[in-house]
Amino acid sequence: MLNIALPKGRLGETVYDMFEKAGYDCSQIHEKNRRLIFENTEKDICFFWVKPSDVNIYVERGAADIGVAGKDILLEYEPDVYELLDLGVGKCIMAEAARTGYVDQPQRTKRVATKFENIAREYYASIGRDIDIIHLNGSIELAPILGLSDVIVDIVETGTTLKENNLSVVEKIVDISARLIANKAAYEFKKDRITAIVNALKGEAAV
Ligand code: PRP
Repeated sequence: MLNIALPKGRLGETVYDMFEKAGYDCSQIHEKNRRLIFENTEKDICFFWVKPSDVNIYVERGAADIGVAGKDILLEYEPDVYELLDLGVGKCIMAEAARTGYVDQPQRTKRVATKFENIAREYYASIGRDIDIIHLNGSIELAPILGLSDVIVDIVETGTTLKENNLSVVEKIVDISARLIANKAAYEFKKDRITAIVNALKGEAAV
């Protein structure tokens, strides 16, 4: 059986539709319940819903053969997996944002609030900027408003959260979208099946 980890939530549902259209359906998944595992024994596949930031862990450790993770998670945690396909959905950007009208003071250490510590460190190192990271777990937008940080590094999708909190993008850091990833050993042992899925999903990818 091929185990597939999907990110719980709206992105996962979009991605499941792509699997379904590509011929990898599992009708039970449409039933409204709290189940987390769905099998299609005829097609020999098993989907399970995982917290989006945990998909890489399931795949890296082989509990899932393949899975779908945001590029943000892959850049932040650098899991030892193969990245097989850009699915072209879940598109957003990772950006530096600040209160509208913010002016950087290059001689001062910049205080950066984020949950993407590694992405932020790498970005500021690449431009040679001194920073102090303040690691937060959510509602990052509050930090510059309350003076906890000068800027934030976070996901911007529609821009609504920034706008409604009087914040603006200062700099785009990187484009993000959902990626199909594979466990390295599973990719060797189940190469034909995984390749067939990649090819079928290519026809559905929104890139
Ligand atoms: C993400 C991100 C922003 C928001 C951006 O938060 O951290 O807060 O989405 O989306 P927008 O540009 O469409 O407004 P998420 O919903 O993942 O929750 P979080 O607060 O746990 O980060």
